[in-house]
Parts: sequence; C-alpha cells; structure tokens
Amino acid sequence: MRGMVATELGLCLLLLWCGFSRGRVGLRVYLSSWAVRVPGGVQEAQRVARKHGLLYMGQVIEGGDYYHLEHRGVKQQSLIPHWGWHVCLKKEPTVHWFEQQTLKRRSRRTVAAVPTDPWFQKQWYMNNDVTPDLNVLAAWSRGYTGSGVVVSVLDDGIEKDHPDLAVNYDPLASYDFNDNDPDPQPRYDVWDQNRHGTRCAGEVAAAANNGICGAGIAYRAKIGGVRMLDGPVTDIVEARSLSLRPQHIDIYSASWGPEDDGKTVDGPGTLSLEAFYNGIVNGRGGLGSLFVWASGNGGHRYDNCNCDGYTNSIYTLSVGSTTESGRVPWYNEACASTLTATYSSGGKGEKQIVTTDLRRRCTSEHTGSSASAPLVAGMIALALEANPALTWRDMQHLVMRASKPAHLQASDWAVNGAGRKVSHHYGYGLLDAGDLVDLAKKWTPTRPQQKCSINVIHKPLAIGSRLSVSANASTCHGEKADILSLEHVQVQLSLSYSRRGDLAISLTSPMGTKSTLVDVRPYDTSRNGYKDWSFMSTHYWDEDPRGTWTLLLENKGDAYNTGFLTHFVLKLYGTDEDMSARRAAAWVVSECVRRDADGTCQECTSPFYAFHHLCLSYCPPRYYNHSRRSRDPSAPSRTVQTCAACHFSCYTCRGGTANNCTACPPFSAYDEPTRSCSQPIRTYLPHGGNLFHGPQGLLLLIAVIVLCGGPVLLGVLCLTHRLWHLRGPWQKRPDPALGSEAAILELVRCNHISSEEQRKELGQRLLP
Ligand SMILES: *[C@@H]1O[C@H](CO)[C@@H](O)[C@H](O)[C@H]1NC(C)=O
Ligand SMILES: *[C@@H]1O[C@H](CO)[C@@H](O)[C@H](O)[C@H]1NC(C)=O
Ligand SMILES: *[C@@H]1O[C@H](CO)[C@@H](O)[C@H](O)[C@H]1NC(C)=O
Repeated sequence: MRGMVATELGLCLLLLWCGFSRGRVGLRVYLSSWAVRVPGGVQEAQRVARKHGLLYMGQVIEGGDYYHLEHRGVKQQSLIPHWGWHVCLKKEPTVHWFEQQTLKRRSRRTVAAVPTDPWFQKQWYMNNDVTPDLNVLAAWSRGYTGSGVVVSVLDDGIEKDHPDLAVNYDPLASYDFNDNDPDPQPRYDVWDQNRHGTRCAGEVAAAANNGICGAGIAYRAKIGGVRMLDGPVTDIVEARSLSLRPQHIDIYSASWGPEDDGKTVDGPGTLSLEAFYNGIVNGRGGLGSLFVWASGNGGHRYDNCNCDGYTNSIYTLSVGSTTESGRVPWYNEACASTLTATYSSGGKGEKQIVTTDLRRRCTSEHTGSSASAPLVAGMIALALEANPALTWRDMQHLVMRASKPAHLQASDWAVNGAGRKVSHHYGYGLLDAGDLVDLAKKWTPTRPQQKCSINVIHKPLAIGSRLSVSANASTCHGEKADILSLEHVQVQLSLSYSRRGDLAISLTSPMGTKSTLVDVRPYDTSRNGYKDWSFMSTHYWDEDPRGTWTLLLENKGDAYNTGFLTHFVLKLYGTDEDMSARRAAAWVVSECVRRDADGTCQECTSPFYAFHHLCLSYCPPRYYNHSRRSRDPSAPSRTVQTCAACHFSCYTCRGGTANNCTACPPFSAYDEPTRSCSQPIRTYLPHGGNLFHGPQGLLLLIAVIVLCGGPVLLGVLCLTHRLWHLRGPWQKRPDPALGSEAAILELVRCNHISSEEQRKELGQRLLP
C-alpha cells in the first residue's frame, strides 16, 4: 500500500516536472484554477482537493456538481497546461470531468475577473457601473484577491457561519471581548442591532463565485471579527482588540469611535495608545500593523474628525466617503487627517453598499462612513498580497498616491506643495485598487521615520478674535531633524476658550498649503478649550518642511469670546529622502524560482532576494540582504540571496546581531559607537492619574466614604459610573440613513452632580 502511494506520488512529481519542461507550445494562458465535476458532493470534492494539495474554492453553480479548485505555490498564469495535476485528477474515479481554466488574452480582464455571484451585478462600486469605480476588477485581473492576508473587523461580532463568509473565516483573527471567549458570533435580537460587523466583514472578504450574495474586495483573504462593541467598552477592551495577535492579523478595520455629536473631543486612552504603538513597532514582524478607520458620521452636526483621536492618529489610515454621483454625503465629516475616500451611501435614491447581512442574508443597504473603511481594508489587502514587505508607512504613501480626485465634488480642493490635489472631505480622493497594487509592486521602502518637534511658544498668548503664530522649521531639533519630505504633521495645542466650538484653527506650511485643523462646531459649547490635544493633517505629504509655518486661530462666533493659547508644539514626521525625486521604476517583486515544502522561497533570480514566499529586489526594514550557500543538493556551491531577520531591537541593520543596527524603531535611540538601539523610551505617557485609580486612589475613596457617608458615596459612585460609561458606548458608525439617534446608546444620567461639575471632571478625564 505504502509502496503504491509512493509510486503514485513519484509519478505525479515526475509528471509535474514534465509539465514544466514541455516547452511553450500553447497559445492559451493557463490559470492555477481547475473546474471539476464531482457528483459525490462537497465533501468528496474537498477530499479530492486535500489529497492533491489543491485548495477547495467552493461550488461554481449553486446546487450543481461543479467545484472550483486551485493550486497554490505555482505561477498564477502559465502558457503551458499543468500535466501533473491533469494526470492526478484523471486517476480519481469520483472526478467525472475537469478542466484547467484558461484566459483569452484580449478579454482576460473581464473573463477572469468578473465573479459569478448573483449580487455582483448590484455591486456598482466594483463592477464598472460608475466611472470611475474602485477599479477592483483591474487588481483581480492581475491575480490579486487577498490570498495570504488576514483582516480583522473590530465591531459587534461576525456571523462566522454565514455561507458567504464561512470559507474565509479565520478563528485566529477573532475574539469576543464582550463575553471573553473566542467565539465572536453576534448577539441576535429582534432589531438586528448587531449586524454591523458582519456587514463590514462581507465587504472585505465575502467569498466569490459561490452563488451567494456578492464578492468581497479581497475575496480570498482570511477574515475574522472581534466582538467588542456590544457591551461596555473600556480602554482594556479597546486595547485588547487593537492588539489581538499582531503577528497573525495584518489589517484591523474599525468603524467606530467617540460620539459624532459635534461636541466631543476624545481619543484613545493609555492602553489603546500603547496598543497602537505596539502594533506599528512590532506588528507584522516589525513592518507594522495596518489600522483602517472610518472618519465618522457626524457631518450633519458639523463634527470634525480631527476631534476624534482615533481617526486623527498618525497610525490609522482614515477613510472618508463619497456618493454614487461623487458628492459629499450628508454624514461625511471633513477633516485634515483623512487620507483617502471610497464610495458609500448618499441621499434618498442613491445606491448603497452590497454585502453580507446577519441571519445568513445579503443586503444592498449598508451605509455611512462605516461602509467605506472596510472597502479600503479590502483594497490594502490586495496591495499586501502584491507586496507583503510594505511597512505601515509605505501603505499610507501608496494609498495617498493611488487616490484620485476624479469627479469628486468639493468646494475645498486645493493643490499642495507636492503638486497633488487634496480636500478635507476626501483626503487625496477616490482610492483606485488597480493603481494601488501596481504601485505596491514597484515600491521600494521608505527610509526610517524622522520626527521633529518644535516647541513654539513659551508664554501664554491672548487669542482674542484672531491670533497668528509662526514657527521656523529650519531650527528644528528632532532626533535627527533631517526631513526632506513630510508625511504627517501634528499640532499639539493647549488653550482655554470661552466657547470651544467658535474657534477655527488652521495651519499653513512654508510651501503655502493651508489646512483646516478644526472648523466651527456649533454644537461644541464647551468652556474647557483643548488640553494637549493633537490635531493632524495629511495635506503636506511629500512637501519640504523647511521654512515658516503659521498657525492661525480665529474666533468665528461671539465677539466677547476670549482665551489663551498656552502650549503649541509643531510635530513634523517624514523622511530624509526627497520623495518628489522618486521615480517608480521596475517591479520590485518577482516570482520565486524554488520553494521548500512550506512554500517559503529558497531561490530567486539575481538581483532578487528571497523573502517569505516570494522574491524582492530589496530587503525591507527588519531584514538585511544576506548570501548563503544553496540548500539545493544538486548545486551546493551556488550562493543564494535572501533577506535575513535583523535583531529585534534594530529597525534596519547590516547583520543579525544587536550591534549591527543602522536605524532604530520609533521610540528607541541609536547609539553610534555600539551600533545598537536603546530600549524603547516612551515620552507620551499621558496626563497624570485618573480619579481613584491605583492603591492611593482606593485609599482615598475609602476615606471619602468613611468621612462623608451616604450621599457622597452615591455621588462618587454615580460620577465614576458616568465616567466609566462614557468610555463605554462608543458609537458604531452604522446606518446613518436610519437616523443616527437609533445608534447612540443613551448615557446613564446622573442627577447628583451638576452638569458644570460633570463637564469639569470630564474635561480633565477626556482631554489627553
Ligand atoms: C529660520 O532659521 C534659520 C536658521 O536658524 C535662519 O537662517 C532663517 O533666517 C530663519 N528664518 C526666518 C524666516 O526667521
Ligand atoms: C546589501 O545591500 C546593501 C545596500 O543596498 C549593499 O550595499 C550591499 O552590497 C548588499 N549586500 C549583498 C550581500 O548583496
Ligand atoms: C555585526 O556585528 C558583529 C559583532 O557582533 C561584527 O563582527 C560584524 O562585523 C557586524 N557586521 C556588519 C555587517 O556590520
């Protein structure tokens, strides 16, 4: 028996080899894809697939006998048929018919790329119904469907047994932090309130060609869900969600945040900040986790996503929305931190997003900025498949470059100093998946991030009706202070003001680009001003920072408004490379010549280096180029070029030890003589302790209770409950069409404390 299996395997291998050496005889383009007819049913088809190392891709026509199998590890397209598998499948008695899929060259875009799913024709933003659409068909036609990439949707759960999600469902990318168990299944109720995560997940990775619903953008990516919004949200819950398996999950998609009520100024707590830092420094083997964020649904309340510390973080890729006709949707929040935009719902009569729905259904009514972020998560999954060596910053560079103003309408389009059009509604415009994967294949890594902080004012300045403050960035003293091209720019401010929402703040770069950091927010009547709040702008990307920056504060309300600016730090991030001089050249990614049994590439053609399962013309950060002897027994003297891992303390290096570093990761300092990196030092640690936290806090609490008794106890409990709860009902960003009121969970009212007191406490608590 064993002998027979061995001979059979040997024969198959021989034929596989024969298949490769038959030469280029055919005119057809063969794909790594097979159609088989197995009347024995799904399980038999899956068994056959497993036996021959093929991937089972599902049923071709619902209820039929045809199944889609794929082989991995071999070229996506080939001019010769695969005789090896041909013979292997022919020997299977339960396989009645099979055919390797081919392309007709002239029509291959459409033939190969268009999924057969019944709802695909409704997916107007992907199927070319609008011009331009997200150009996903182009990315698919180049062979990118998200294989090998893992995405997790942080939301109210995921229906893991939804027939259109089940094949891509990844339990390792999932968790339930509301109930503390590994099962992220949503909680069902009569209103289907917890359908949001399942809808977002389908946009990313609903399976294709299985006869169910439509197709996800990365329809072969692995998809997981974290259930974290269906219950009290704490800093711990957020941080655990954002840091779930950062070596396994590549992309985190989040469509939630502080309430989009036009008056909140709030952001991540200590632990969530730590989770972001940990993600970008250590996630994905040190290349950095990718966090995609919905910009917010508070447009109709004049909210500004720069008052939301999640979307305005430099570590998140923040996504705005546009309607079918290219207009600003009524819910869209404008702000300078938005990088890109995708389609979503609009007003009455405009189309919405088509995806999977709770209770194994499909929907064509997914809406809001919530729907835009997962589309970007799917598109960057395609880019990551094209080039898995991209860092979190590379991806932001690419997304910026692959976004197009197209026909998107806004009154504020302006050309920045790098010659690109940018708007507060859409960032750099509509993301194009075809361009994104093409750029990914040609992108060489950005050099290490440089940071430079300028502490601009040294004594409080009266704001009055207008205050303009200039900073000379030529005097910038950063860790290296060698920024030739900008990436993110942050303005950290502390100020007092009689009515916060009346103050409009803008920043103008030396190259003359003016970006609005926050505009008038009529609902924001707070008297607390801003306390070390960091505004962020992406509008200066690739500009030269040298010269004079001007911050402008303007009173747009009552003439009696007053306040003082007490703190202004300008933080510039970028690189010491002149990015405008970059010319995208040849492809930096190429096919592997020889792999080991796990699919890890063993050999590349010169001048490429083996990296994971493919070949790169460079080694990314965290790796160095390394020559070693070939492990191929037939050619032991040959040398093989590979990317070998740096010591974990280095960002870039020339060898594998801790004193071969050439640059350090963020928050770590370089020591020139020893060529090593220090332990990470974080200077961010925020704003003192919170009320009644830690052992002293507990003692104080007990003392207060003992001394003051009942009413105070009640007051304190009520206050802490309110504080705790406020962290809690983070608003999902769903369904603005249903009225956002429905989604805002009513806060617990506390009658023992005057609203003025509450505001004071909250001001201290919430402004990091
Ligand atoms: C900015 O600083 C540089 C270096 O100190 C100086 O040469 C330059 O004149 C300054 N520019 C302005 C506008 O003050
Ligand atoms: C590795 O890359 C560096 C910089 O790109 C280059 O100077 C060096 O010669 C390369 N080493 C090998 C072994 O290819
Ligand atoms: C790496 O560090 C070792 C010492 O640990 C040193 O001998 C070697 O020359 C270094 N390699 C490079 C390429 O700098």
